[in-house]
Amino acid sequence: MFYDCAEHPEPFVYKLMTATVTPRPIAWVSTLSQDGVVNVAPYSFFNVMGHEPPTVALGLLRDPAKGLKDTGENISATGEFVINLVPRDMADQMNMTAVNAPRGHSEAEIAGLATAPSRLIAPPRLAEAPVSFECRLLTAVLTGPKQMVVIGRVVAIHIADRFLLDPARGYVDTPALDLVARMHGGGWYRHGGEMFHMDRPVFDPAAAPPPRKD
Ligand SMILES: Cc1cc2nc3c(=O)[nH]c(=O)nc-3n(C[C@H](O)[C@H](O)[C@H](O)COP(=O)(O)O)c2cc1C
Repeated sequence: MFYDCAEHPEPFVYKLMTATVTPRPIAWVSTLSQDGVVNVAPYSFFNVMGHEPPTVALGLLRDPAKGLKDTGENISATGEFVINLVPRDMADQMNMTAVNAPRGHSEAEIAGLATAPSRLIAPPRLAEAPVSFECRLLTAVLTGPKQMVVIGRVVAIHIADRFLLDPARGYVDTPALDLVARMHGGGWYRHGGEMFHMDRPVFDPAAAPPPRKD
């Protein structure tokens, strides 16, 4: 089947993309409004984009009621945000923070989430999250009316001590983090599953076909 995106409504294209680009990690983003309200919301259009410097990106869709989502408003206004990662035993609370709360309500309070101060930025992190990235806004790109890609620089990383195998070497017990990821359709998630390993190949000129001379 071939789909020309221009010939299909955007919600249909959204279904095709979110049903295929899986599993997606979940950024559980905490921000501060200019009035000092802690906002928390999950975003699965998220990934690491580089490490020199450490860079992350978030995709914020248009909110039918508010236009820009509160997370986008707050990041634009303050230039700071925390990305917390979501373990299985916090998945219910993560889901609660996706509630369509009107501006000014704190999802941290709605979901009963404890916060802890960040070190380098003002928005707090989620105290029980196994990993939190303190981020400063690098740039925000409007990719549609009220649709935004936020690109941020990670300025500090918190990892709970119990997940570090060797803190000095930066060895993390990744399976023990027990993170959940977003799957297809409404409300589907991935937890656990099979892992496999492959060594990265090294180019061997003796074994490779000769280079093409076009
Ligand atoms: C697991 C999960 C992932 C989500 N990912 C996104 C996303 O990538 N982009 C987006 O705009 N909304 C996403 N949402 C919806 C937002 O979390 C939701 O609209 C939320 O109310 C936004 O809150 P805010 O206005 O406080 O930022 C996701 C929801 C869930 C439950």
